[in-house]
Amino acid sequence: MTLSIVILAAGQGKRMNSALPKVLQPLAGRPLLGHVLDAARALDPAAVHVVYGHGGDQVRAALDGALKAAASRSSWVLQAEQKGTGHAVQQALPALRDDEIALILYGDVPLVQPETLRALVALAGPKSLGLLTVELDDPTGYGRIVRDARGKVLRIVEQKDANARERRIREGNTGIMAVPVKRLRGWLGRLRNANAQGEYYLTDIIAMAVKDKVKVAPLAAPTVSEVLGINDRIQLAEAECALQHSRARALMVAGATLADTMRVDVRGEVVVGRDVFIDINAVFEGRVVLGDGVVVGPGCILRDCEIAAGVRLNAYCVIEGATVGAGAIIGPFARLRPGAALGPEVHIGNFVEIKNSTMGEGSKANHLVYVGDASVGARANIGAGTIVANYDGANKHHTAIGADAHTGSNSVLVAPVTVGDGATVGAGSTITKDVPAGTLAVARGKQVHIEGWKRPTKRGGGPAKS
Ligand code: UD1
Ligand code: MG
Repeated sequence: MTLSIVILAAGQGKRMNSALPKVLQPLAGRPLLGHVLDAARALDPAAVHVVYGHGGDQVRAALDGALKAAASRSSWVLQAEQKGTGHAVQQALPALRDDEIALILYGDVPLVQPETLRALVALAGPKSLGLLTVELDDPTGYGRIVRDARGKVLRIVEQKDANARERRIREGNTGIMAVPVKRLRGWLGRLRNANAQGEYYLTDIIAMAVKDKVKVAPLAAPTVSEVLGINDRIQLAEAECALQHSRARALMVAGATLADTMRVDVRGEVVVGRDVFIDINAVFEGRVVLGDGVVVGPGCILRDCEIAAGVRLNAYCVIEGATVGAGAIIGPFARLRPGAALGPEVHIGNFVEIKNSTMGEGSKANHLVYVGDASVGARANIGAGTIVANYDGANKHHTAIGADAHTGSNSVLVAPVTVGDGATVGAGSTITKDVPAGTLAVARGKQVHIEGWKRPTKRGGGPAKS
C-alpha cells in the first residue's frame, strides 16, 4: 500500500507565550515543523499533507518549500477552528486515497526518527494499524494506553478523562499512528466530542478499531527523547539539548574531539575529517566542512564554509560563505565574509575582515585590516591597519595586490587600483594610482621639523592646566 503522511500543525501553542506559531519555534535553528517534514521526506512517501491553522500565512510562507520537497504530492489543509486532533485529521480526508496507509505525525514532535516510523508503517495494513507508544517515568499530560490482562491494546484515555487507576498507567500515547485510510474515514465520521475537553479526539479510533476487529499493533518508541512533544519553552530546551547531544555524538563518531559535548551547537550540517578538535561554544550553521586535523577555537561561529585540512581557527572567529586553504591560521577575532577564498598557509590575524576576495598562498594580513573585493597574490603582506577602500559611496571596485607585495601600516588603497608584484607601499600612504611592480610608493605628507618652536603658554602665567 502506498504511504501518505498527515502532519497535524494547527495548534496555537498557548503555553509558549509567543507571537510565533508553535510549529515555527526554532529547534537547532530550524522550525519544529521543518524537522517533522525532514523525517517525512526520509520515508519517501507518495504524499504529505500539513493541517495548519494558527499563524497560517506565516507557517505556509516559512515551510512551503520544505513541504514541496517532502513529496511530489503535497498540500496545505486548513483547519480554521481547532476542534481536536480527530477533527484535524478529518480535514485532510479529501486529500487521502482509500488504498493508502496514512501516517499521522505531529508538528510539535520534531525528533522522531525515520527508522522508527518505517517500523511503524510496516505494522499497518488493510486490517491493522500501528500505534507508537512510549514508556514514561512521568506520563502527566499524555493519553494512556489501556490494555487488557493479556496485554492487548483496548483504547486510549486522555489524561483529563482518566480515572485514578488509568492515570497510574505509564505507557503513553505518542500520538503517532499508521492507519489504513479506508477504515480511518469510517471511524473519523463516528467521532463524538463528549469528553472533558469537548474535542474530537483522534485517539478514540483505537477503541473503534478494536470493536471492528482491526488489529492494533503497538510499537514502543526506542527512546523517550525521540517522541518528546513540545508544548512550552522548557520542553523546547529539553529537545534542543537532546538533539545537540546526538549531533555531538555523531561528530565524535566521525572523528572529532569535542572539548565539551554540551557546549557545541550544530544548527545545520557539519562534515568532519579525522582528528578535528572543536573547542567550547563553537556554533555551526548551514553546511560546514572541516578537513582532517582542523582546530576550531572557542567561540567560533561558522556558517556555510569549507575549512581545509590542518587549518587552525583561533578563538572567536566569525566565518560565513568562505573557503580556507590547507594549513592556514585564522584569528583570534577574525571575520571572513561571503566570497572570501583563502589559499593554503594564509595567515589572518586579529581584527581583520576579508570580504569577496582571494588571498594567495602564504599571504598574510595579521592585524587590523579590511580587504574587500580584492585579489591578493601569493606571499603578499598586508600591513597593520591597511584598508582596501572598495566602495565609493555608490559602487564597489576591484583592487589587485600582486604577489610578494607589501603594504605599509595604515595605508589606504582606493579602488580601483593595482599594486604590482613585489611593490611596496609606504606606511600611511593613500594610494589612488596604480603602483608599478617592484617600486616603492609613498603618498603622504613629508615630515618637517620646525626648530625652536614654542608651545603656547596660558595667559597670566602659571602652569597650563588641561
Ligand atoms: C495528544 C494526544 C495524546 C498524546 C499527546 C502526545 C489526542 C486527543 N491526544 O494530546 O493522547 O499523548 O498528544 O503529545 O490526540 N492539533 C491540530 N488541531 C487541533 C488540535 C491539535 O492540528 O484541533 C495538533 C497540534 O498542533 C499538535 C497536535 O495536533 O501538533 C497535538 O495536539 P495537542 O493539543 O498538543 O494534543 P495533546 O493534548 O498534547
Ligand atoms: Mg501536545
